[in-house]
Amino acid sequence: MSPGTLFRTLSELEATADRILPSGVQEYVQGGSEEERTIQANREAFAHRFLLPRVLADVREVRTGTTFLGRKTPQPFFIAPTAYQTLVHPEGERAMARAAAAEGVLLSLSTLSNFSLESVSEAAPGGERWFQLYVHRDRQVTEAIVRRAEKAHYQGLVLTVDVPVLGIRDRQEEAAFHLDSAMPLGNLDPEVPPHRSGPLSQRDHAEDRIDPSLTWEILPWLKERTGLPLLVKGVLSPTDARRALDERAAGVIVSNHGGRQLDGAPATLDALPAVAEAVGSDGEVYLDGGVRRGSDVVLALALGARGVGLGRPPLWALAAGGAEGVRRWARLLREEFRNALALTGCRGVEDVNPGLLFRK
Ligand code: FNR
Ligand code: LAC
Repeated sequence: MSPGTLFRTLSELEATADRILPSGVQEYVQGGSEEERTIQANREAFAHRFLLPRVLADVREVRTGTTFLGRKTPQPFFIAPTAYQTLVHPEGERAMARAAAAEGVLLSLSTLSNFSLESVSEAAPGGERWFQLYVHRDRQVTEAIVRRAEKAHYQGLVLTVDVPVLGIRDRQEEAAFHLDSAMPLGNLDPEVPPHRSGPLSQRDHAEDRIDPSLTWEILPWLKERTGLPLLVKGVLSPTDARRALDERAAGVIVSNHGGRQLDGAPATLDALPAVAEAVGSDGEVYLDGGVRRGSDVVLALALGARGVGLGRPPLWALAAGGAEGVRRWARLLREEFRNALALTGCRGVEDVNPGLLFRK
């Protein structure tokens, strides 16, 4: 079946994936932590804000392009890093990367990808890519991965800092979701033992690998070892954002990990303005969490984001139609974004400003 028949619109995408994803994997993808208040808040923050249409602005030509870390990108959204993509589709990260490169969408690849970062680059030469870094308990493992990411031409490092421990994922627990400890992890193989073996909860699997002792010291440690620009992902506090910039990060990604970490953390769209203010023109501010439609992208930009990441939607599209599904998702989202710009009287992202927000 062609992806066009699997989902015609972005409205249909999530339900399509829900029909396809096996139980367990579905809870892994869709679930969050505890009562999932934060997942809900992410969406509600968009639903409770409105854009004021502006008219008679000659929008024959609307440009959707912008720059991320100084490099051109055809649209201000990117694929957020998500782990273990072969759970969703046998071609996993390789299919995701092929689709991203074909559509000119920047891909961020998780440390916990099933395919190696090199094999993902080979699958989609020329694509724009960032590598998402989880700092391993063994720093030598991390140093080696950073070297590999440089060599394979990743253009930025996304340092995820909101997983010192994994959130408590009730939905996974209730579905008895387990990872196979022998599942390939292309960036971490061969890895230093000992790790737990057998079927593992995602928490045990992740916590064996991610260093819970990280402090701000990690930023100078990385800056000494790589010239790649660094984005700190998982920041909600303006004070933390400012500190990241002071430690020479190129920017931050305002994220609550898609509501998978601290349940009760604020919606990212609500946290964004204060972070954008704290960062000012000293760095770039991105947001992820609950972005689904073209008008959501405009809202996030109007509130101070340079660009937005999407985590679950490209996974749904991968499940629904492999690389073709992801391409279709990217095209639909870009078209919606262009449409929302036109209807708010914007000819390009540079025209998006806080004045577009409707105030009651
Ligand atoms: C994630 N996320 C994530 N983040 C990260 O830095 N490294 C990772 O390996 C993962 N893995 C992961 C798996 C799955 C299944 C999901 C849903 C999410 C978080 C992700 O990058 C992003 O912050 C959120 O997904 C954004 O929220 P939305 O777009 O899913 O609402
Ligand atoms: C997750 C981790 C792996 O959210 O980032 O599932």
